[in-house]
Amino acid sequence: MKALLSTKVGPPEQLEYADAPDPVAGEGEVVIAVKAAGVNFPDALIIEDKYQFKPERPFAPGGEVAGVVESVGAGVAHVKVGQRVIGSSGWGGYAEKIKLPAARIMPIPDAMPFDEASAFILTYGTSYYALKDRGQLKAGETVLILGAAGGVGVAAIELAKAMGARVVGAVSSADKAEFAKMCGADETIVYPPGAFAKEQSKALSDDFKKVTGGGADVIYDAVGGDYCEPALRAMNWGGRYLVVGFPAGIPTPPLNLTLLKSSSIVGVFWGASVAREPKLHEGNVRDLFNLYGEGKIKPRISARYTLRDGGQAIRALMNRTATGKLVVVMD
Ligand SMILES: NC(=O)c1ccc[n+]([C@@H]2O[C@H](COP(=O)([O-])OP(=O)(O)OC[C@H]3O[C@@H](n4cnc5c(N)ncnc54)[C@H](OP(=O)(O)O)[C@@H]3O)[C@@H](O)[C@H]2O)c1
Repeated sequence: MKALLSTKVGPPEQLEYADAPDPVAGEGEVVIAVKAAGVNFPDALIIEDKYQFKPERPFAPGGEVAGVVESVGAGVAHVKVGQRVIGSSGWGGYAEKIKLPAARIMPIPDAMPFDEASAFILTYGTSYYALKDRGQLKAGETVLILGAAGGVGVAAIELAKAMGARVVGAVSSADKAEFAKMCGADETIVYPPGAFAKEQSKALSDDFKKVTGGGADVIYDAVGGDYCEPALRAMNWGGRYLVVGFPAGIPTPPLNLTLLKSSSIVGVFWGASVAREPKLHEGNVRDLFNLYGEGKIKPRISARYTLRDGGQAIRALMNRTATGKLVVVMD
């Protein structure tokens, strides 16, 4: 089979489109013929050894796939050969085939095309767990989403709207603001590219307060860096600050800000929660497929790439030029 391989630590331009051995399903395992692979920011981190997981090389990046079950090992009961499925892989998805433990695979609805299926579970799973389980978001509350036009950001917009919240999307360009509006944000704000001097940080905080109507009850931060402190200053009494990701760097906010608003900083680690709280995850997946069926959520795929060109998709995320979801589709 063909795969896009990381053979040494480095940027996406160093990935190699090469032959790799066909995987064989062992006991409790499933081989999927991959039809599409979702592109996510962790793909950029994992090839540079900056992610929580550091697979042995050579490996293909690609944390989630959709495709057709090609073979199953002994003891696999919940999926059959020929079935359409999603696989949560962590890595290995930028390849024509992938082998995964059966527990990481789930059937997909007939009406869901492969490209949307490959861009579904990681973003919506993360944002639903963040807003519902970690953020305790209630109808009528105001959510400020940083990085609102990105993968998890757009999912957060759609889900927060479906949960009855008022949504403010914060992004780095007018085009991204328009995109966030199209995805359902009630209001948007364009922030500067960063890094910020003290006065810029204060001015951004004032702007966040203005656009949220005084402050946010929940802040969904998929960006980090210098955006954290001004956002935390624009929090309402009893607010919840959701720590989701750090493409702009790991922030170190002054903790007195939480005391002043009796607010909470809440960590969100969706992948670990899936492993530790499988019942919660099962229920969330059911809810997400229902919301998809009702047309309330739908992956916004803005560009598709061939397997050979998958590195360009990762580069677009790193360059901050992508909107919504990018997907690698097999020939
Ligand atoms: N906690 C979890 O369980 C979990 C699960 C999935 C993903 N994540 C994390 O969530 C973050 C977003 O993932 P994603 O797949 O949605 O990525 P994405 O589509 O690339 O979105 C990230 C957004 O971050 C913003 N950004 C700000 N500074 C940036 C910089 N220096 N470089 C690149 N982007 C920058 C960009 O928006 P603007 O240009 O508008 O600022 C971009 O749209 C990542 O850090 C990822 O690791 C966490």
